[in-house]
Amino acid sequence: MSKTVVITVDGPAGVGKGELTRRLADAFDFDLLDSGAIYRVLGYAVRKAGLALFDEESVVSEARLLDLSFSLENDGVHVLLGGEDVSSVIRTEEAGANASKVAAYPRVREALLQRQRDFAKGNGLIADGRDMGTVVFPKADCKIFLDASCEVRAKRRFLQLEHKGLKPDFDKILKEIEERDKRDRNRPVAPLVPANDALVLDTSELTIAEVFEKSLSYIQEKTSLSV
Ligand code: CDP
Repeated sequence: MSKTVVITVDGPAGVGKGELTRRLADAFDFDLLDSGAIYRVLGYAVRKAGLALFDEESVVSEARLLDLSFSLENDGVHVLLGGEDVSSVIRTEEAGANASKVAAYPRVREALLQRQRDFAKGNGLIADGRDMGTVVFPKADCKIFLDASCEVRAKRRFLQLEHKGLKPDFDKILKEIEERDKRDRNRPVAPLVPANDALVLDTSELTIAEVFEKSLSYIQEKTSLSV
């Protein structure tokens, strides 16, 4: 069987990785790994079991036993914990903050490493996260790192939530993004940094269509893929 083509897309919260990776997976008809969802589910599972996020031993045990699966439905990919569909509950800002707390434990990351690598089994994989190009798939065929200022990312999150009919608080979102960035960038294991061989794209002034076009040209330049 021929080797799976792996394309990694890393970057901080709210930078537009989700939208870009969905479009790339569609364009190439590749599988998609949303690695953030794994940490989000773990944070949720820990809280649901009545355990504390600071109790490292318990969090590591939960990570090793995590009964997580993804299922493709008409409206997109659903995330299941045991039999429970947790797709929506893991998308809150609180779930994001909890994810970044459990993701900071080195043994948790180690416990979840192989599970992420196992996604590279079909024709191709688009892997979305923080350490896809540095730790999980260091030999990926093509690596992209998206960045944008905290203010721009907070504004995007704000509009996303408003669009869902909610009444978000901009200052609160900005503060949460800054805190999560700080934790993700400064942790000792798999910190949020671009791989040496990644294309770094500052998306602050770019539309999602422009980010997609630039990524597509780069991927086509680095690989023999066509759409
Ligand atoms: O969608 P957003 O970028 O806000 O978050 P996410 O990708 O769902 O990730 C949630 C949290 O999980 C991040 O803040 C990271 O702390 C952690 N994470 C990680 O440590 N490594 C990854 N590969 C993906 C996510």
